[in-house]
Amino acid sequence: MHSSSSTILLLCVVFGAAAACSSGQCKVGDPCSSEADCGSELYCYNCWIEFAGKRCIRTTVTNPFQIVDTSLPFNKYAFLTTHNSFSIHGEPSRTGVPRITLYNQEDSVTDQLNNGVRALMLDVYDFRDDIWLCHSKGGKCFDFTAFEPAIDTMREVASFLSSHPSEIVTLILEDYVRSERGLPRLFRDAGLTQYWFPASRMPRRGEDWPRVRDMVARGHRLLVFTSDRWKQAAEGIAYQWDYMVENQYGDGGMRPGVCRNRSESAAMDDRARSLVLVNYFHTVPLRLTACVDHSRRLVDMLRTCHAAAGDRWANFVAVDYYKRSDGGGAFAATDMLNGMLVCGRDDVRACKKRTLKDAFRDLLLHGKFSVWRGW
Ligand SMILES: *[C@@H]1O[C@H](CO)[C@@H](O)[C@H](O)[C@H]1NC(C)=O
Repeated sequence: MHSSSSTILLLCVVFGAAAACSSGQCKVGDPCSSEADCGSELYCYNCWIEFAGKRCIRTTVTNPFQIVDTSLPFNKYAFLTTHNSFSIHGEPSRTGVPRITLYNQEDSVTDQLNNGVRALMLDVYDFRDDIWLCHSKGGKCFDFTAFEPAIDTMREVASFLSSHPSEIVTLILEDYVRSERGLPRLFRDAGLTQYWFPASRMPRRGEDWPRVRDMVARGHRLLVFTSDRWKQAAEGIAYQWDYMVENQYGDGGMRPGVCRNRSESAAMDDRARSLVLVNYFHTVPLRLTACVDHSRRLVDMLRTCHAAAGDRWANFVAVDYYKRSDGGGAFAATDMLNGMLVCGRDDVRACKKRTLKDAFRDLLLHGKFSVWRGW
């Protein structure tokens, strides 16, 4: 680039931010100089590998239960999922030993839930005579890989479920807990047992799940899946691979055009499992590239996996650094999934049911009649 054009670009970035919009008026993609410039549910972020300067980007998922309704089976909605939700930058050490591990997220589990994350991938270990969330290797937690006692995070989940009586949260556990009945005890102590969807009522042969409305009415608003097959019979915790297919995680799951099952999972197109999870994060989490990973590439992978899963859209999309994006990010990707699942459109906001009055007004004004918004 010539130095004169880069100067102009720089001036545009510096002054454009102030000129284009300000004080809470800026929309997704608009230049901004601080949080205060962006409209609600947006923040001001610099995805510098993709564009110069800061722009307003999304921070929340559109809630499909509110925008459409809860009349569909659980497996007809999509949920934003955080990979290693507990492995949070800046979390102080709870063991007194500095941590030597990798991080996957940047804000608390409560913030994640408030921003619309509805599934948490958690690694649970026996540690210090208790159950801890730990980012470790070889099934053993160490002082330098430990995050926190699992009860703390479970209490955050319980508090969210209690203050959001129409929401459903899914826990996907990489389960290294060997202490007998350790997890049921944990759920009881955290006040979660009352919300627990019994594994015995989960569809085992690829049938639809109950309708969300009915799950909410019954109080079955917490789904828990374990990676430990033995616990399904012994402790009533659903064995993940009986209910869900999942693509390869890590770099192997980010190769364009490829969506293969991870080794624990049945084939992606196995319809005896009615839930589909798509992993989209690097083997070694990369904060710098997360904003471009959660762009067109993520949506392309969701389309690839839709085909691989026998024309099924993912119910869960799992990412690292879920808030980083170049605009809509993982939030827009989740809205896309819900749109496709609910009404066959690529944004759930287009599925909003309109009043008949809206429809007739459009018929008079534009000669079009539709009960869906956006046609
Ligand atoms: C899933 O993938 C693994 C390879 O990672 C493979 O060994 C396994 O057989 C696959 N399962 C099915 C049902 O395709």
